[in-house]
Amino acid sequence: MNSMAQMKRIPSFLVSILLAAGVFAQELDLPAPQKTGGMPLLEALAKRSTARAFDSRDLSPQQLSTLLWSCFGINRPDGKRTAPSANNKQATDIYVLLKSGAYVYEAKANKLVLALPEDIRKLGGTQDFVTNAPVTLVFVADLSKMGNASEEAKKNTANVNVGYISENAYLFCASEGLVTGARGSVDRKALGAKMKLRPDQAIILAQSVGYPKP
Ligand SMILES: Cc1cc2nc3c(=O)[nH]c(=O)nc-3n(C[C@H](O)[C@H](O)[C@H](O)COP(=O)(O)O)c2cc1C
Repeated sequence: MNSMAQMKRIPSFLVSILLAAGVFAQELDLPAPQKTGGMPLLEALAKRSTARAFDSRDLSPQQLSTLLWSCFGINRPDGKRTAPSANNKQATDIYVLLKSGAYVYEAKANKLVLALPEDIRKLGGTQDFVTNAPVTLVFVADLSKMGNASEEAKKNTANVNVGYISENAYLFCASEGLVTGARGSVDRKALGAKMKLRPDQAIILAQSVGYPKP
């Protein structure tokens, strides 16, 4: 199977092989996220920092799953999440840019759903290091879920919502020995057009994740 091959649904035990091969699939089932262990919180806070150099080595499916769960996964039976959201509207989607395509994280089903069968990591930022990182998260506000507030108020709320999610990614990476960097310098117009975002979806922030460059 070459890298242009497409599969409908990939069970979690095959995800690492297919991610490494750059094969895209309509759906990638993620393994169950790790919800215990990790580094003590205060140590993770002591290590948290922004990286701007990444090794190109892929994350394991387990790491990807736990990263996404840490960011904005479901942590309670009532469907609430690891990050707070204004009025519990949960109005942030995480787009995951991988070698094997651009996906949307579906927290409830714990899977990635294909948005675009193309490696668009280079559009995840305007700085050179962006392309080398195996994972770029793009935090996208869904303004249609945010009621009747003014556009300005929605944008403010969206920014705050994403701040929590981004910090969760920082702390998971510190705990896991991975590195990460939040990035506002994104060509939002170009990336939004490529990801076919609706006018009521707004790219708030991008964030690359990977292993440190040796
Ligand atoms: C909203 C936001 C946008 C940022 N945008 C960028 C960026 O475009 N490029 C970059 O290299 N770092 C970016 N950063 C990272 C900051 O430069 C970094 O957090 C700051 O220099 C402090 O470093 P530290 O995170 O290691 O403490 C951003 C951080 C935040 C919170």
